[in-house]
Formats: sequence, C-alpha cells, structure tokens
Amino acid sequence: MSYQITLLPGDGIGPEIVKTAVDVLGQVATTFGHSFAYQEAHIGGAAIDAEGTALSKETLALCKASDAVLLGAVGGPKWDDPRAKVRPEQGLLALRKGLDLYANLRPVKCWPELYHVSPLRAELLQGVDLLVVRELTSDIYFGKPRFRRTYSYGERAVDTMSYTTPEIDRVVQWAFRLAAQRRKKVTSVDKANVLECSRLWRETAQRVADQHPEIQYEVILVDACAMYLMKQPASFDVLVMGNMFGDILTDEASMLAGSMGMLPSASLGSGTLGLYEPIHGSAPKYAGQDVANPIATILSAAMMLRYSLGLEKEAVAVEGAVAQYLADGYRTRDVMSEGMKLTGTRRTGELIAERIRAA
Ligand code: IPM
Ligand code: MG
Repeated sequence: MSYQITLLPGDGIGPEIVKTAVDVLGQVATTFGHSFAYQEAHIGGAAIDAEGTALSKETLALCKASDAVLLGAVGGPKWDDPRAKVRPEQGLLALRKGLDLYANLRPVKCWPELYHVSPLRAELLQGVDLLVVRELTSDIYFGKPRFRRTYSYGERAVDTMSYTTPEIDRVVQWAFRLAAQRRKKVTSVDKANVLECSRLWRETAQRVADQHPEIQYEVILVDACAMYLMKQPASFDVLVMGNMFGDILTDEASMLAGSMGMLPSASLGSGTLGLYEPIHGSAPKYAGQDVANPIATILSAAMMLRYSLGLEKEAVAVEGAVAQYLADGYRTRDVMSEGMKLTGTRRTGELIAERIRAA
C-alpha cells in the first residue's frame, strides 16, 4: 500500500528527530513492502521565519489531504518574546484545532532497563502501563473571552475555561474504546469540587460509563491524581481528562519512564487522520548536535502506523525494535548510565532499523 505522510519538523531538535523517525519508517517500508510518500512543510518558529505565520493555510490544507502528520517540536528562545504577536505554539494549537484532533493519546510505559533512571523507586514502577487520553481542542486553551486590558488599578488578563457536552462525550468515548482493548479500567480526572466545567465533565463522563458496564470506572480529583501518579502509578490503566489537566499531568507522568525523550503521542479525531509527535519540546540547546533522543518520535511513528495507517504488525515491529535496542545496552544521553553504550540521534535510528530488519 502507498501512504501520504506530511512531515512538520518544526524547531530546535525537531528536524533531527523527524529525520531519524523517517529513516526507521524507511526500514518498515522495505521490510513490509509499503511505500510512504512524504511532503514537508513548516510549523512553529520555522514557519514564522519563512512565512510570517506559525501555520499557513496551505500547510493546514496539505495536512488535511494526507493520511497522517508527523511533527517534531515547536518553539525556542528566538520567538519567546511575551509581547510577540505570533508565537510558535499558536501553530501547533491551530493544527490540532484545524484538523479537529480532539483526543490526544499519551501512553506511559516503564522499561525495566530504565527503572533506575526515573526519580521514583523501582518498586513503584513495576507494572506501570498507563494511557492518558487528553482532550485537545477545547478547555482554557481555546475558550473565549480571552484578553489583556489596562485599568486604573493596573492590568487584567482573562482566559476562559469552557466545555460542552459533545466535546466531553466524544473524548470520553475514545477513552472507553481504548480501555476495552486494555485492562478495562477508566479513571476520569476533574476538579468538580470547584469548577463548573468539571461538574459537567463528571456528569457527562458518568453517562458514557453507564453505557460500558464491562469497564471499571472511577473518578478522581486532579490534585489527588497528581499525588497517586507518584504513589501508585501502576494502579492506572486509561485516564481521561481535559486539555490543561492533561498537559500538566503528562509531564509529571513522563518521569515514570525516566525521560520525556521516551514518550510518544497521537492526536486523533473522528476519522483516521492523525497527528503524531513526541510529548517533549524543541530542546533548543541540543539542536543540531546529534544528541537528542529520537525514541519518542520513533514511537510516535509507530502509533501513526497503528492508528492512521492500520498497520498493526508494523507498529509492533517498531516497538519491539526499540525494546531490543534498550535490551542490547544502547542509550541516548538523557537516559545514559554506567556500563551502557552511548548513541547519538542518527545512530539510535540505525540500530533500531537494524533490529526491525533482523526480527
Ligand atoms: C504539549 C505542549 C503544548 C501544549 C504547547 C507547546 C502548546 O506543552 O503538547 O504538551 O500545551 O499542549
Ligand atoms: Mg505539555
């Protein structure tokens, strides 16, 4: 089969990690007899420099017309002026919204080889295999009104948290569908003791849960959830939550795996089109040095094979090759420890590709 993939390398280490993931996909194509056609475009700071906007209409149209989008990262000190009219992050938000990719899947798995790299004790990490389903196109990220104004007493800034029942229902449905293929447990995370949005979230999620008696269901307040992610992370299967809670808790959860450089994500909507990106940022200070960990992006490409291209056994082959790379004692700098073999960005991709070929 032939597939059309849009590459948005973005800023900082983005271009290197995307290139490495594409090299790994090249091995998948050869081994399994597929053809991946790529088109590349700008996003974030790179797009601001080249086109004056963080995501052009043309780029969005290109993404819409493809089977999947693979993205590196956006942002960097060059575009960080808080008074700037255009910001790299706007490109990412416009892309998620423009493609209506409302469900962001962020799996967190702990590799036994990396237990000691995590700030948590190994005994807490055993059996950790959770999936955060983060709502991605609403909440305080997109709510209106949103402004900053000057008054006699000083300035005032307003952001608006907003959710509708359809927005909550559709993402919670995703969480239940995914849980059905896993350990059959869903935890809904909210702040219903304070926020009206969260009370609507809780009621709506409960209605979805009532349709799925085969799935174990619980609700938990977001502050308590932050604590339980450290105290008993293995107790979670699928967690579903709003956009901002999901942003915060997934950075926290990434520490279970030892490094953000290991964690992929998929953003999905109602069709098969998806956006795939590592959960980490553009790490400007490591850009161009061939030291960045490409595994989060390679695992994002595996999620792309699974969710957008329907290539499950190819996805499993990539994930297996990553596990084998770790088992063979190779490490990038972010997860390096004594006695291991240090590999740069490109070499990591080559070693993973070799393991796809060998399997
Ligand atoms: C993420 C990032 C983004 C977000 C930023 C870069 C806009 O932190 O994907 O988690 O807040 O969603
Ligand atoms: Mg984030």
